Amino acid sequence: MTVNTYRIAVIPADGVGAEVVEAGRAVLDALAGASAGRFGFDWHEFPWGSAYYAEHGRMMAEDGLDQLKGFDAIYFGAVGWPGVPDHVSLWGLRLNICQNFDQWANVRPVTFLPGIESPLRAADRADLDWVVVRENSEGEYVGLGGRTFGARAGGSEVAVQSALFTEFGCERIMRFAFELARTRTRKKVSSVTKSNAQQYGMVLWDDVFARVAGEFPDVETESVLVDAMAAKFVLRPEELSVVVASNLNADILSDLGSALAGSLGLAASANLNPERRFPSMFEPVHGSAPDIAGRGIANPIGAIGSAALMLDHFGLHDEATAVRQAIERTTAGGVRTRDVGGTATTREVTGAIVGNL
Ligand code: NAI
Ligand code: MG
Repeated sequence: MTVNTYRIAVIPADGVGAEVVEAGRAVLDALAGASAGRFGFDWHEFPWGSAYYAEHGRMMAEDGLDQLKGFDAIYFGAVGWPGVPDHVSLWGLRLNICQNFDQWANVRPVTFLPGIESPLRAADRADLDWVVVRENSEGEYVGLGGRTFGARAGGSEVAVQSALFTEFGCERIMRFAFELARTRTRKKVSSVTKSNAQQYGMVLWDDVFARVAGEFPDVETESVLVDAMAAKFVLRPEELSVVVASNLNADILSDLGSALAGSLGLAASANLNPERRFPSMFEPVHGSAPDIAGRGIANPIGAIGSAALMLDHFGLHDEATAVRQAIERTTAGGVRTRDVGGTATTREVTGAIVGNL
């Protein structure tokens, strides 16, 4: 009998989302199969996404959030497809879930894998490994604003897109970052700011960072402007451990981080509701990649790494480590998709990871 069965809502959504989610499920099912009944996964797949939108005029069922609420976690692919405006698909599904389930901490490790070439020179001489902690509930993506004056003569429309920074929101993400730093070899938090130009929201961000830092005297800190941080990712990445940033800044920096590690297809992410009032959501950082979708060549490592973060969330730390080690053995052994210089298909990489478990 299976002692612990985790109920997972699966939303593959669009493009390569379906291909990489299938890969992550295969790895977790293999792990469960080898656990001698200690744990298992009960998957419930939801057909939401851009095709669903074409049929129903909405990205997910009207009571979709109610349907998801009772699950232990959500495993997500990627959303967005030509024909549906990106702001409609993103807000209608992924951001809708993140916001309403208060998944306020988005954890995005930047991992350098053996056998995968980084464009960074430093990758050869330093042990690089850092994690971007993204404020995932407010900031620039709070969704406040509007468009008006559309009826005026051509060219007069006006749009306001406001960023919102609250002391509450800043404080909880920073405390989260400091606590994460305490679990790492290098106990350091780098705060990403832009308070030179954004004198209200980002100065509040800095003030809260300084105050929370005072509670963690054992953790090293620095505060870096976002433009300088982009340069630092490239030039001095060995100085990074935990990087805490606002919604937009972390969104951009984590794509940079995964590109530096070798490909957008490698990066994993967890959207956490740390209080566990709602299910958390695990998804690769990348999007639906319409340019390669349906060809079976998407890199599944970002999605499989996200499944490992889900195992961590369930307290299955040894199993999460086993998945990460199997990924390393696979890339070191030369089984790679073409975005990282190989020729293997999604299924071949997945099969090799399962074999290396
Ligand atoms: P993208 O991440 O889909 O693709 C960017 C580039 O990375 C492409 O060249 C693609 O082939 C490559 N790539 C992405 N994932 C890969 C993988 N697993 N293996 C190998 N190569 C991979 O970003 P793009 O093209 O800007 O957006 C496409 C759609 O995805 C848009 O509709 C966008 O709104 C959506 N999107 C959704 C996200 C989400 O659901 N979390 C995140 C980012 C974009
Ligand atoms: Mg992004």
